[in-house]
Amino acid sequence: QLADSLFIINNFAREYFSHNLLESEEGQNVGLAYFEERGFTKETIQKFQLGYCSNERDTFARTALSKGYNLDYLQKTGLVAIRNEQPADNYRGRVIFPIHNQSGKVLGFGARILVKNDRAPKYINSPENEIYVKHKVLYGTYFARHSIDRLNECLLVEGYTDVISLHQAGIENVVASSGTSLTVDQLRLIKKYTNNLTILFDGDNAGVKAALRGLDMAVEEGLNVKLVLIPDKEDPDSYVQKIGAPAFRQFVADNKQDFVLFKLQTSMQEAGNDSTRKSQLVNEIAETISKIDKVEDFTRQQDYIRQCSQLLKIDEQGLIMLVNKFIR
Ligand code: UTP
Ligand code: MN
Ligand code: MN
Ligand code: MN
Ligand code: MN
Repeated sequence: QLADSLFIINNFAREYFSHNLLESEEGQNVGLAYFEERGFTKETIQKFQLGYCSNERDTFARTALSKGYNLDYLQKTGLVAIRNEQPADNYRGRVIFPIHNQSGKVLGFGARILVKNDRAPKYINSPENEIYVKHKVLYGTYFARHSIDRLNECLLVEGYTDVISLHQAGIENVVASSGTSLTVDQLRLIKKYTNNLTILFDGDNAGVKAALRGLDMAVEEGLNVKLVLIPDKEDPDSYVQKIGAPAFRQFVADNKQDFVLFKLQTSMQEAGNDSTRKSQLVNEIAETISKIDKVEDFTRQQDYIRQCSQLLKIDEQGLIMLVNKFIR
């Protein structure tokens, strides 16, 4: 009931912002110009139903209210807020990215400021409500699901624009975590389509750390995790726009590495000569390996044991015993 009302409002807003972007003078001069500057084609803009919210105080709010939409519900969706006791637009002067569920209905929005500054957040996202539960959503699932199924692989990126640019480059099996670390619910959503997850993250530290946090959980969920580090200062969006689609595909193919081995290597580098830290590491990696389902994936577990014992320069049998300690 309430959920239906929120879906209806979001759908109205999506159409409104999209129309505003493509048909209004301000939308064309500001919003459309912004997207075109970023290299998004008209086709891409329409496919992802991108929009623009006017920089006036309350253009959307007034239109929605005059059409009879309920103010409480408009606030629940985060589209409208009360400012100085009057309804006002929350996304004014921003470009709009609708966030769809698996069947294409709009759960909420991400709204990006046109020029970054220190006073306002770059993106404002819809608040959680009866239909938008962030930890269960991955941006782009609706557009990616067939391709993930067909290729039996899901690429994971950080941001809205990464998903969009990769689609435009013909890479469609891609979803975004929207800048947070992965949750179990999101991993299970991926598992509905494939067991093969490839993480494409910014080379910056924050990106890698966020990715690492998801690893043990992903392995535990039975996913086969690979990692591609995007060069410094770039993200998948900027990098694919910079080098072009064929070179980007080649880059991904050449730089795909196993996530468990990657984690081990980076941790070993960090540990240096610290022997306490090193034995901690051996324990950690044994625990990670123990989480790989032995019945389903026995060969994979054996491979890991062999490769990790080589990397750690420890005895294979010793590592096997340690791994078994973690298996109840
Ligand atoms: P990034 O800072 O990498 O942004 O955050 P981006 O996706 O590259 O966006 P552009 O290219 O600057 O437009 C990654 C994701 O984290 C979330 C968004 O989902 C974003 O796509 N994020 C980031 C927020 O929700 N709020 C923010 O202020 C910043
Ligand atoms: Mn939660
Ligand atoms: Mn980043
Ligand atoms: Mn970016
Ligand atoms: Mn980014």
